[in-house]
Parts: sequence; C-alpha cells; structure tokens
Amino acid sequence: MKGLILSGGKGTRLQPLTYTLAKQLVPVANKPVLFRVIDTIREAGVREIGIIIAPHTGEEIKRAVKQANFDAEITFIMQDEPKGLAHAVRTAYEQGFLNDDERFAMFLGDNVIEGGIGALITDFDQHPEWNAQVVLKEVPNASSYGVAVLRPDGSIERLIEKPPVPPTNLALVGIYMFDGRIKDAIYAIQPSKRGEYEITDAIQWLLDNGNRVYPHIHQGWFIDTGKPYDMLEANACVLEELTPAIAADAVIENAQIDKRVTVQAGAVIRNSIIRGPAIIGEGAVIEDSYIGPFTSIYHRTTIRNCEIERCIILEDTNISNLPARLQDSLIGRNVTLTRNGTLPRAMKMNLGDHSVVYVE
Ligand code: G1P
Repeated sequence: MKGLILSGGKGTRLQPLTYTLAKQLVPVANKPVLFRVIDTIREAGVREIGIIIAPHTGEEIKRAVKQANFDAEITFIMQDEPKGLAHAVRTAYEQGFLNDDERFAMFLGDNVIEGGIGALITDFDQHPEWNAQVVLKEVPNASSYGVAVLRPDGSIERLIEKPPVPPTNLALVGIYMFDGRIKDAIYAIQPSKRGEYEITDAIQWLLDNGNRVYPHIHQGWFIDTGKPYDMLEANACVLEELTPAIAADAVIENAQIDKRVTVQAGAVIRNSIIRGPAIIGEGAVIEDSYIGPFTSIYHRTTIRNCEIERCIILEDTNISNLPARLQDSLIGRNVTLTRNGTLPRAMKMNLGDHSVVYVE
C-alpha cells in the first residue's frame, strides 16, 4: 500500500500568510500541517509516500520535507496545473508513482484529523473486494464539502460535490482509499463547473459502474484548515491532544507554567504565566507576559510584556508592549508587532510574513 498526499493547493483563503508560505507548511501546535499528515501515514505503517506539489510552492515544500528527514521513501510529483484532485491522481499515474493495479491511500495535505488512520488502512487491506473507501464526517456546513447520501444499509448511494442545498450533513473528509479501478474513473470523468476534475465525481463514476465503495464514519474531530479561523481551531484541538513536555535545556525563571504546556529546546521563559494547553517553540523567549490557552509560539519568536491567547505566532517574530490582549490571531514570520502609544482593549489580526504593526 502506498500513500499519496495532495499538497498543491494555493491557500488563497489564508492570505496574506500564504503569499510567502505554502499553506501546508503553516504549523499547528508547532508542526506543519503537512508533517502531521506524513506522520499519520507513517504511523499506519505506510513507507512509500508520494507528495503532489504545484509550481508556486513545490520547491518550498520539497525543501521543508527533505530537511525534516522522515523515515519514509518520499517521491515528489509535480502537478503543473491546478486541475483538481482527480487530475492530481492522474498525474501520479502518469509520472509512474502509482502502478495500475495498486491499492493506495490518498490524503489532502491541509486536513487535520483526530487519531490515526491505522485502523482504516487495516480495514481496507482486509477487504480486497472493496474498490474504494471514503471517510465521512457529520458537519454543520456540508455545502462546503463533497456530500454523501447513504442507503438504509449504510452503503453509499451517491456523492455530490459542494451542493448548494446539501441532502445530508455527511461530508467527505479528505481521506480516501482506492484500488486500480480509480484509474478508469479519473480518465472517464469531465471537469466540473469550477473547471476541475473532482475526485468526488470519479468516486461517483465507480458507484455508477458497479464498484464497491464503502464509507467509514469518523467520530473524532476533523478540520480542513482553509481559513485562519480553522487553523486556530485545529491548533486548539491538536494542543489538547499533545503530551506535554519541558525540554531539559529550557530556561525557566520566576514563571508559572501549567501542566499542559510544552516547552521546546532552548526556550527561555521569565516572569511570565503560561496557561495550557500551549506550546513554546525552540529558542523562543517569553518575558513579563501572559500566554493563555490554545496558543502556539513557534521557534525563535520573542514575546515581551504582552498578553496573548488562542493565537498561532510563527517563527522569528517579535511582539512587545501591546496595550491589550492579542487573541484569535494568526501572525506570520519575521513580524514586528509593538506599541507606540496607549489604547484599545482587544485586537484581532491576520498578518503575513514581514508585517510591521504599531498600535498607536
Ligand atoms: C475537497 C473535495 C471535497 C472534500 C474536501 C475535504 O474540496 O473536493 O469533496 O469534501 O476537499 O476537505 P476542496 O478543498 O478542493 O474545496
């Protein structure tokens, strides 16, 4: 069994951050979303992993993945045009990563899901007669997803991509298992209204042509990290799951640190309160500050004299002397955020790399 991760998306809804950073590399609890997906696949025992990349972010993703040195055999597959998920699978066949009669698991590189997928893979492995398996989850906003209609016996009757009025609230989570039949499907379908070859249509083709497609209804949380709010939500969920640890070489002086806090190597925390769940990255410096729950401070970032809650702050950023609590915010790399006067009671922001903000 191989793993195929789709990591070509542009991340338009995460701009300005994604003008300079691939969305799959935005960290959630101090680990890029894509790395979480790779870990999940590895934990399920899959070693051969293909990553679909796109021209604008491909090199950056390649570099980051290579540097992280995963214990896996990773092949990068360039998808020249953003023509949809089914087109990405076609590219994986055309570039020789997938062989004709091979079974594989496919993941969207920007989705975060609770728990592993080991059981799912085993399930699919033990049912060689299944042609495909899809993961479904009940969601409140099904019109943003592919949606499934089930028969009374639990099998799939039909799938519809982003219906304006969803017939059910069962969304397709970005995890799919396929056998070689999917190849016929992706060559048979036509582009959708948005001009993409939809994997949902390819699976519908499998159903229409007598193939066996089984659903797995996921009970834990699942987040498609498309928008800043989703990122913060995913960050909160993953922080809740994290086993806390304080690095041996962290410097902690006159600080109150909750049980559910992770402090990574070389971080310095002085005269501060850290309420978990939270994570403080490698070489980060926190002084005279309050860091509230659901906050991730990434590597080498400095926070001085501030109150910060439910934020993701990326690496090499400096935040100081804010006159009010910074909350529900996603802040990029190399940002300077400081005060130049007195003022407000709360602030919310979504800042890309190299932003400079003075609250005056
Ligand atoms: C894609 C799929 C959709 C699925 C979703 C899960 O949507 O087309 O069926 O429900 O991923 O995240 P997209 O993210 O391309 O809008």
